[in-house]
Amino acid sequence: MIELRDVAKTYPGAGRGAKPFTAVEDVSLTVAAGRVLGIVGHSGAGKSTLLRLVNHLEVPTSGRVLVDGRDLGALDGRELRAVRRSIGMVFQQFNLFRSRTVLGNVAYPLRLAGVSRAGARARATEVLRFVGLEEQARRHPEQLSGGQRQRVGIARALATSPGVLLCDEATSALDPHTTGEVLDLLRRVNTELGVTIVLVTHEMDVVRALCDEVAVMSGGRLVEHGDVYDVFARPRHPVTEVFVRSALRDLPGDAARERLRARHPGRLVTVPVTRDAAASARLSRLLRAHGVDFTVAHAGVGEVRGAPLGSVTLALHGEDADVDAFLAGLTAREAARDATEDAPHGATREEAHGKAVA
Ligand SMILES: Nc1ncnc2c1ncn2[C@@H]1O[C@H](COP(=O)(O)OP(=O)(O)O)[C@@H](O)[C@H]1O
Ligand SMILES: [Mg+2]
Repeated sequence: MIELRDVAKTYPGAGRGAKPFTAVEDVSLTVAAGRVLGIVGHSGAGKSTLLRLVNHLEVPTSGRVLVDGRDLGALDGRELRAVRRSIGMVFQQFNLFRSRTVLGNVAYPLRLAGVSRAGARARATEVLRFVGLEEQARRHPEQLSGGQRQRVGIARALATSPGVLLCDEATSALDPHTTGEVLDLLRRVNTELGVTIVLVTHEMDVVRALCDEVAVMSGGRLVEHGDVYDVFARPRHPVTEVFVRSALRDLPGDAARERLRARHPGRLVTVPVTRDAAASARLSRLLRAHGVDFTVAHAGVGEVRGAPLGSVTLALHGEDADVDAFLAGLTAREAARDATEDAPHGATREEAHGKAVA
């Protein structure tokens, strides 16, 4: 559906003598039809630029952008406008016309596309019904809540029945509850309308709630791209690691770890919890085999795409020899003996999550 081939974007420096700035460098990325891709990265990483390259709101300095097999760089103005109508866009600040009604905002792109006044009204009403705002059609944007405004923004983007929806921080201005409502709506846009979604966000919780795949940008480059569960379970790049940890929060913090270590010297073990049921079974077998009991000292397990992911830190109880034998029976990847004794955070996560998911 969307294919970026070695795409780069360099902005000319603003003002006399200013240096050009490369915001996106060497990005190749394919998004299949019907998928939901999340793009994460710190501020300034090039996410918005990358998103705007997809519909040629930014023209790449080099490389090619193909949408539905059509090379956008090879199209004339009229063809490009037609392709853009097949790509909806949603913004953090909604970008609605204050002077127009809700209906007028949603009808606007249809009028631009040459649809009759009556046809535009009918279609706009239909889309407003889909986003649950039919009743608000005659109101003005400032009379609506932030979440409602964003639903108008989504309705406007869907008015021309696009196959692709680009969302730039669409939920970043919203509170958590409203964010949830907008994410539910975007999920329906994907599943009920079959729209392919590319969504830029700095919130990993958004990725976890909605996306099939995640791409991570850093310094203008794509540093990681994969299935959401796999990336959460085994982040490879340090930037990805930071984002995944912000959403999983499964390991005890430094102070908690100190307290736990003092309370259970040499008897703490952190084990991964993943969708690999065989790994859990192996762990219980091993505990039973050595007659080792445990209490849960810390736990952080949540769901990622419907499957469990996280880790638990267990305090082991039993004879010293049995505990030692149990620990010896665990492979390095199945457990970090004392969650973080000598390994930095990153390595520990790799260790803790590597095996079970592989
Ligand atoms: N029109 C522009 N002219 C010059 N520099 C720009 C322009 N747009 C963005 N940039 C720069 O490109 C970098 C990436 O910006 P952006 O794509 O907005 O990042 P993100 O969305 O990840 O925060 C930033 O350093 C930004 O200042
Ligand atoms: Mg941005």
